[in-house]
Amino acid sequence: MRVGVFGATGAVGKELVQVLGDRRYPVTELRLFASTRSAGTRIKTPFGEKTIEVYDPAKPPRLDLALLAVSGDWSKAHAKELVAAGAVVVDNSSAFRLDDSVPLVVPEVNAEAAKGARLIANPNCTTAILAVALAPLHREFGLKRVIVSTYQAASGAGAEGMEELETGLKEVLLNGGTAKNNVFRHPLPMNLIPHIDSFQPNGYTREEMKVTWETRKIMGLPDLLVSCTAVRVPTLRAHAEAATIETVKPITPGAARAALANAPGVKLVDDVENALYPMPLTASGRYDVEAGRIRQSLVFGDHGIDFFVVGDQLLKGAALNAVQIAEALPV
Ligand code: HSE
Repeated sequence: MRVGVFGATGAVGKELVQVLGDRRYPVTELRLFASTRSAGTRIKTPFGEKTIEVYDPAKPPRLDLALLAVSGDWSKAHAKELVAAGAVVVDNSSAFRLDDSVPLVVPEVNAEAAKGARLIANPNCTTAILAVALAPLHREFGLKRVIVSTYQAASGAGAEGMEELETGLKEVLLNGGTAKNNVFRHPLPMNLIPHIDSFQPNGYTREEMKVTWETRKIMGLPDLLVSCTAVRVPTLRAHAEAATIETVKPITPGAARAALANAPGVKLVDDVENALYPMPLTASGRYDVEAGRIRQSLVFGDHGIDFFVVGDQLLKGAALNAVQIAEALPV
């Protein structure tokens, strides 16, 4: 397969190249595209050393697969050109996610939606991580309502976000200074920020509404009630989420554990006696979404549970999901 990675020098782009190598995706030719700032840079990949190219819209490359880790504006301008030039495009931005003609895919949940599509949207990271755990629970118990609070890592704001957190932590901890902030709205070290993306007229942020809109689309449940509070926390690359669900059928913690233990993409980590539960420390760099802290909901009684999930934002929340979509496509 001739594969192009667009935005190859960013945090998600670098993971895309790595995941293609780790999963032995059948790459016959790999081309890496980024902005003019990185043009000509040689970088080592699992497929040998490659030179960063700048995309020329007048001459779209001939690719079988294009993985886009670029801005929504870039995707809107160029994704369809790449399709017209023969590629199947998996786009990581929000440009097409809510477009009825574009499938929004988490392969463990709705792989079949990608069938025959030439342009496929990769979901918002928080949503993809949550959907992997919600799907098996929905299959067995039916979902009625989902209430979720997130604890989102600096990586969600890209390499610059990670760098700002690391630099700020050093400044505060080693020099006793004050952390500067350009990427985040407030300094992140020793803080958390209940504000990701722009506020909407209804008081939710766009990040929070993405969880509602995209969960509904991926799960094929247009009326599912989903409410999210999205919070940036000073962790590096795994997003954590506390969820409460109300179910159609009765549910017990034991039955929920059994459903999650057998679900693809989920690792059950739920042994509170031994203080084992999902954490960014253990989920970072891993493919599986950790699920645990499962308990009967005090609010919804025998029709609800509370649980906690953590997934690597750059992997299941981005690059891994995109490569899994590509793997699910007919070659
Ligand atoms: N918007 C997410 C975040 C990352 O800021 O954490 C990408 O889905």
